[in-house]
Amino acid sequence: MAESIAFHTTGRRDRYHELWPQLDALTRHEPDLIANLANATAAVKQAFGFFWVGFYLVRGPELVLGPFQGPVACTRIAIGRGVCGTAWAEKRSICVEDVDLFPGHIACSSESRSEVVVPILVGDTVVAILDIDSDRLSDFGAVDVEELQKLAAMASGWFAGDR
Ligand code: SME
Repeated sequence: MAESIAFHTTGRRDRYHELWPQLDALTRHEPDLIANLANATAAVKQAFGFFWVGFYLVRGPELVLGPFQGPVACTRIAIGRGVCGTAWAEKRSICVEDVDLFPGHIACSSESRSEVVVPILVGDTVVAILDIDSDRLSDFGAVDVEELQKLAAMASGWFAGDR
């Protein structure tokens, strides 16, 4: 199988719909969690050009930086801290239109203006957080949350099947 993806649409929802089957094909036969997470970040970055796309992995009482695409980022986030730590503690997706208005936002880069964060669950347990940052204000909305929850569901399978 060719390790490449391509897009023919420009609308965001259409592009998500083009992306998911290609990412599924790219990861379906690969049992290694890190390989799949890494390609997922690259695929989302390639599809949309977001400023930062990455996963934080639950490691004991903290989130630890996992595979990502973009500038270097903070390595550890405590539960309940920042957008990622809040999404973990509350087991919910969070869309932030203006990161400067989110109390406790952890600024890894001053260029990040808006953000969407989606928890990845295996059963009832959060195992990781998908974090996407944009350098544009209000770049994310309900379509992104809805579509990225599909990626979270796919990634849940990677965690469950990691070997
Ligand atoms: N903004 C995040 C921290 C991670 S960086 O954006 C990559 C937060 O407040 O959780």
